[in-house]
Amino acid sequence: MQILDGKIVSQSVKEKIKEKTILFKSNGNKTPHLAAILVGTNGASETYVASKVKNCEEVGFKSSLIRFDENIEEAALIEAIEKLNRDEDVDGILVQLPLPKQINEEKIINLINPDKDVDGFHPMSIGKMVQGLPTFIPATPYGIILMLEHYKIETSGKHAVVIGRSNIVGRPISILLSRNAYPGNCTVTVCHSRTKNLKEICLQADIIVAALGIPEFLKADMVKENAVVVDVGITRVVDATKKSGFAIKGDVDFASVAPKCSYITPVPGGVGLMTIAALLMNTFTAAELKIKH
Ligand code: GUN
Repeated sequence: MQILDGKIVSQSVKEKIKEKTILFKSNGNKTPHLAAILVGTNGASETYVASKVKNCEEVGFKSSLIRFDENIEEAALIEAIEKLNRDEDVDGILVQLPLPKQINEEKIINLINPDKDVDGFHPMSIGKMVQGLPTFIPATPYGIILMLEHYKIETSGKHAVVIGRSNIVGRPISILLSRNAYPGNCTVTVCHSRTKNLKEICLQADIIVAALGIPEFLKADMVKENAVVVDVGITRVVDATKKSGFAIKGDVDFASVAPKCSYITPVPGGVGLMTIAALLMNTFTAAELKIKH
């Protein structure tokens, strides 16, 4: 069993971005600039956004964090996004999700200029991804792809089972794994809360992507020998033994599943770290203005 180490791979991706950024700037180009919008004080969102901002600095990008109160009206958020759309110095715009109830998430995502949509959530970006055209790929699935690529994991002709059908992870990774590309060319089964015989389907999988958000859901008796297991879960569970008061749990029961796998991602230290590296890649691409919609 080999660990798919998010720390090593994300570091290697970030080193490459750092070098490319130095070269980009020395060629007279501007500093890549990511603007992140955070609404409210959701603990997990605060942590993610802080990490995104810190990582921008590490690779030589500029970042702006724009914070709004939990009770912000939708019109004010719309105005802020329109301002960032117009701001020529801003290359990438990220609105941290989830948003409070009074705000229509879909409306907000649709408002982001697709040329700056580094989260890849805009329907234009998703449509292009489905067609296999150059675009921004959402950070988590993109991070998984970078991880599989780094470890040269064979995917062609394999049966990949994706558990979860969210717009952010399950749906896009299922599309990417079925593409005529590497990593890709998998036969993909997408499972979800209404799936019958989930265990039997998982037992047929060469690759399992667990992205359903239920801690330690995937057990050893659902995984065949030598499967590749990618754990996308990051649920905070109360843990009095931790200084922070909580522990991070994946969707995979790592202790029992890992011995059966050829490769497995740990939590923490797996896919989570890759998502930030992927976001930085998208931001650099946005700065290069390679993607024109
Ligand atoms: N919330 C959970 N994951 C993500 C993500 O990848 N991007 C944004 N903007 N919000 C999220």
